[in-house]
Amino acid sequence: MKKTVLVSGGAGFIGSHVTVELIQAGYDVVVADNFSNCDLTCFEGVKKITGREDIPLVKMDFCDAEAVHKIFNDYPIDAVIHFAAFKAVGESVFKPVLYYKNNLMSFLNVLEAAEAKGGCNVLFSSSATVYGEPDVVPVTEKTPRKPATSPYGNTKAVCEDILRDTVFATKGAVKGILLRYFNPIGAHPSALIGELPRGVPNNLVPFITQTAIGKRECLSVFGNDYPTEDGTCLRDFIDIVDLAKAHVYAVTRMIEGKMKEDCEVFNIGTGRPVSVLELINAFEKVNGVKVNHKFAPRRAGDVTAIWADPTLANKEMGWKATRTVEETLASAWAWEKHIAGK
Ligand code: WQD
Repeated sequence: MKKTVLVSGGAGFIGSHVTVELIQAGYDVVVADNFSNCDLTCFEGVKKITGREDIPLVKMDFCDAEAVHKIFNDYPIDAVIHFAAFKAVGESVFKPVLYYKNNLMSFLNVLEAAEAKGGCNVLFSSSATVYGEPDVVPVTEKTPRKPATSPYGNTKAVCEDILRDTVFATKGAVKGILLRYFNPIGAHPSALIGELPRGVPNNLVPFITQTAIGKRECLSVFGNDYPTEDGTCLRDFIDIVDLAKAHVYAVTRMIEGKMKEDCEVFNIGTGRPVSVLELINAFEKVNGVKVNHKFAPRRAGDVTAIWADPTLANKEMGWKATRTVEETLASAWAWEKHIAGK
């Protein structure tokens, strides 16, 4: 029998790519979203890519406990992947209460409903941000977490702890996998789904693509005096489709009872550090376009260098990042052109 996965925040950037991969792997997916930070564009794209017109879409807010209980009662949910959260690092500094309330409440409601059903498999979308500025790179899952540098980052760390505690308290009736994403970039090769930032993008790649297409005048490279080879920060840019596939491996591992512990954590990255300047140069080269850029002061809260040691996910889950940075940057450009109607 087909298994059913609930994807909270399933109409957003990562959620829509994960929905595609789950459906293509043979899962039934229930997409739930409150559309606070996205519109129907990606959900429509998911339907086109998968050829499925019948994907259930529930418009709901995960901060509404009753609605969360209802969706768990309405569908035979075998696993839930939780994306529904606010994610703007800078905004969270100025609106901590909003961020803690939204990101913690929505996840608590998921766990309460999972417990009420007698248990469930819960996959939480965590972030490399929990490692802070690491003393040693690459980071493994055993690298100690550091205090978060933003309320957003802290919500990730706190939700990790809440899931761990719930797994323990329910004696494994609730099972958990924490995926710590590095820097997800790019778009589906079909160019039918991708990132749709509202307003001025905070993240590097949407700013690059919007500058290349002429929506933004100039990209500021935040800091060229870091202790790295070219002076700019190093990150582990992970292709969004590769990242989405990791969720299929993780969900299958949970559903098929292959977990070694009731709460597991995996880094989802490539293991390959790329500097901000290298990324800009690679984008220009592979797409044959110029990205007007200038050096600007460092951005508060940025770490110098972080990349993943993805060995555990490679060995334990059988997942590996496969796409090259060039392929990913070409997909990001194709998506930008698609939304610009070009
Ligand atoms: C990458 C590099 C910037 C924009 C954040 C969150 C993380 C995760 C992903 C989000 C940095 C530089 C950026 C620009 C630049 N979660 N940059 N000019 O900060 O590594 O990670 O996004 O939902 O939790 O912290 O990603 O893309 O913002 O920045 O020079 O206009 O690009 O300084 O070195 P970051 P990013």
